[in-house]
Amino acid sequence: MPTFFDLDKLRLDTPGVTHRNHLNNAGAGLLARPVLEKMVAYLRREADIGGYEAAYEASGELAAVYDSVARLVGASPSEIALTENATVAWQMAFYALRFKPGDRILTARAEYAANYVAFLQVAQRTGAVIDVIPDDAQGVLDPAALQRMIDGRVRLIAITWMPTNSGLVNPAEQVGKIARAHGIPYLLDACQAVGQTPVDVERLGCDMLSATGRKFLRGPRGTGFLYVRKSLLPDLEPPMIDHFGAVWVAPDRYELRPDARRFETWENNYAARLGLGAAVDYALAVGLGEAERRCRQLASALRDMLRDVPGVALHDPGAELSAIVSFSVQGRDAAAVNLQLLNAGINVSHSKPSSALLDHLARQLPTVLRASPHYYNTPQELEALAAALRALR
Ligand SMILES: Cc1ncc(COP(=O)(O)O)c(C=O)c1O
Repeated sequence: MPTFFDLDKLRLDTPGVTHRNHLNNAGAGLLARPVLEKMVAYLRREADIGGYEAAYEASGELAAVYDSVARLVGASPSEIALTENATVAWQMAFYALRFKPGDRILTARAEYAANYVAFLQVAQRTGAVIDVIPDDAQGVLDPAALQRMIDGRVRLIAITWMPTNSGLVNPAEQVGKIARAHGIPYLLDACQAVGQTPVDVERLGCDMLSATGRKFLRGPRGTGFLYVRKSLLPDLEPPMIDHFGAVWVAPDRYELRPDARRFETWENNYAARLGLGAAVDYALAVGLGEAERRCRQLASALRDMLRDVPGVALHDPGAELSAIVSFSVQGRDAAAVNLQLLNAGINVSHSKPSSALLDHLARQLPTVLRASPHYYNTPQELEALAAALRALR
């Protein structure tokens, strides 16, 4: 472990680790102390001096949240919209696109349910068709297959980089190269990626990227963001607007903001926004490369431990795996195991087939348990999970 990665300090910064064995960072990461303090201090100001006045006082800091998020993903602040979650961010981008009968939406087998139901709705409304990019032999999106699918009718490539229900890592960058080569808009769901891996929209070649604050980024719940490439913005009319995203300039006319904030609305939870900014700054200070290395090392160690637990089956496809470890316990209901672990002070979560239906059907997966360590977890915490699972038998 490099000396600059100070695990003791990171754990001291994380009040939750003293109460719980928290292996549910794909659900919601534990807040770091500076994030918590930033939000509490701001809420106090709202109570002490008034909500509008507190926002005015913090206007510099609130503006800096855009700089932080932009830095996190390698974008410019004017390409960032802050939203209340990743789903709203994704929807704003997706529903801004126009489809006509026969237009093709290419997506991946492990696509997240919220995105896929939106594809279905738009397909029903417009006559667009959804085509799923085949996987390679290892169960990872196959870029060669994507290349073969490209034709003049492909209107959008929209995939999930790291899915909700497994450690799969789709080749987001290779997909971006293909999308760019053919001038096809590319919408990337990076919800489970931000905070556990470096994200650079230029390298990824994506035109739109959505993410949440609460997962590996360790921000507060109810936060998210959208990146939209500057060159695409003038063509994207938000599916819904208010007088913040679109200024009412004449009785019969409005003008959309030129920047990505055209996808926002006027009223916001400013404490949560400041918390998101603090979480991003914290992640950048830890270092995303280091976070990725440590997260993956812990996840890999956990997989090794779980392989030795009788009755446990691992379900993560591919050679390169994220920090999401998916597994099932033979003869046990995942939700019941989840609850038993919770009662033992161990936080994991579970993914139902309906959260990524195509993937669950193709691999005939049951509801899976999901353990997702972060850099602040310890090998001892992983061993405690393995021991608790062993004790179930
Ligand atoms: C892959 C993926 N995309 C999108 C989302 C939605 O994120 P949010 O709940 O912030 O809208 C999730 C949430 O679990 C997810 O796992």
